[in-house]
Amino acid sequence: MKTIVILISGRGSNMQAILRAGLGVRIAAVLSNEPHAAGLEIARAAGIPTVALDHRGFSSRDAFDRALAAEIDARAPDLVVLAGFMRILGKDFVQRYFGRMVNIHPSLLPAFPGLDTHRRALQAGVRLHGCTVHFVTAEVDHGPIIVQAAVPVLPGDDATGLAARVLEQEHRIYPQALAWLARGDVRLDADGRVGFPHARAAGALIAPLPDA
Ligand code: GRF
Repeated sequence: MKTIVILISGRGSNMQAILRAGLGVRIAAVLSNEPHAAGLEIARAAGIPTVALDHRGFSSRDAFDRALAAEIDARAPDLVVLAGFMRILGKDFVQRYFGRMVNIHPSLLPAFPGLDTHRRALQAGVRLHGCTVHFVTAEVDHGPIIVQAAVPVLPGDDATGLAARVLEQEHRIYPQALAWLARGDVRLDADGRVGFPHARAAGALIAPLPDA
């Protein structure tokens, strides 16, 4: 059975979706840089060990990264899962877990890396927005893509409504990506992209729909 650790900073709804999915993995710990993250309560209620490591208590980013790595390595995980973890991680940290650390981002990368993605997508006038699960590399929100879900932007959408519909899809694709990873179905190729031995895909998602 594969072992994972999950890193959060806040509400923890993606973490909860992963817990609920019953992936047949051992969740060794949930770690947060925010001691009051609501997700920590959810994890505790589910009987998962939690660790709060307040980044404000460290003299440098490196010192925080090292303490975080020590907590992670003590659990010897196969996968490190960032689920709404809002700290930027240093190069050494990212390198240490390259190929076994994944993140979910609320946009169709490489569009809209960074924060405030839903508002920026609306402002850009895109018809399709969405979310992406990817391996983590030193460049924030840029690593090899595992899976994406596209969500149509609807007339009258505001950032809150759009975020809610994207979040629903996050809760579908993140557990699925982890299931594939745990089964060894996701391969990181030498060209830096993800190979997919058993890919299935929808024909197309078009928004707005063409005339019938
Ligand atoms: C999600 O939108 C995720 O894509 C982004 O941060 C948010 C975290 O939400 N990285 P939650 O804590 O999982 O509810």
